[in-house]
Amino acid sequence: MAKLLEVHEVRLSFGGLTALDGPSLAVGDGEVVGLIGPNGAGKTSLFNCISGLYRPQSGTITVAGERIVGLPRHRIASLGVGRTFQNIGLLQSQTVLANVMAGAYHASRGGWWATAAAAPHVRRSEDETRAAALALLEELDLASVAGRIVGTLPFGTLKRIELARALLGSPRLLLIDEPANGLVHGEVIELGETLRRLAAERGAAILLVEHHMGLVTSVCDRVAVLDFGRLIAEGDPREVAQDPAVIAAYLGRAA
Ligand SMILES: Nc1ncnc2c1ncn2[C@@H]1O[C@H](COP(=O)(O)OP(=O)(O)OP(=O)(O)O)[C@@H](O)[C@H]1O
Ligand SMILES: [Mg+2]
Repeated sequence: MAKLLEVHEVRLSFGGLTALDGPSLAVGDGEVVGLIGPNGAGKTSLFNCISGLYRPQSGTITVAGERIVGLPRHRIASLGVGRTFQNIGLLQSQTVLANVMAGAYHASRGGWWATAAAAPHVRRSEDETRAAALALLEELDLASVAGRIVGTLPFGTLKRIELARALLGSPRLLLIDEPANGLVHGEVIELGETLRRLAAERGAAILLVEHHMGLVTSVCDRVAVLDFGRLIAEGDPREVAQDPAVIAAYLGRAA
């Protein structure tokens, strides 16, 4: 039985630069897995391959047993893959509610009808979409800013809005890229609680890219470590943090 996500020997390069050098990893239903590694290790590139923004030159990726390399983004989203972006992928001049409702369009360039045709489980009316978006804003403690323009809100709030938008598609697999970046300590603690709750209550699997090791160890069942596009360690978060190869990778990049 295939796991929810299976990445097998994925290779991606940009000209002469190798971003992903054949890593393999799997995430089971409801599992929370950290994806860590120094800057430039290939973490976001792997997210981009899984969500269909980048097409790897070789290797396979399956979601719920279906091969997804080469599929359009909205098809991959309709298989249950949601994501947030490292540099915030929100429409700055739109309201919070409009941004979250846009999650129903699954980042599709085809627009509402194309998405609806491709993905029966997201075929909802605008009223239903609005109700679902408002419920999520409530759940993520964002109801009071529903009508505000995104560009006027603090960074920590934007991160939560992105999460709400990704959740609107009821993903089975949520890819979250550096959610703690730019947050103050108290916000990181709250974020950790939110992520644990999402995994527990919705049964969503999470693949979490994060440099904040406190957050990673507190929410992840397991971590995988990338360095120069390769998987160099995998296992219990605390044990992996002590692994000499992992320490060397971080020190090597810092030097
Ligand atoms: N679109 C692109 N064009 C050219 N090079 C790219 C592109 N996207 C990523 N890269 C390169 O691929 C490598 C991996 O980048 P990536 O963004 O995946 O790293 P990362 O692990 O997410 O790093 P960070 O922790 O800094 O976000 C880097 O050398 C980066 O410059
Ligand atoms: Mg990145």
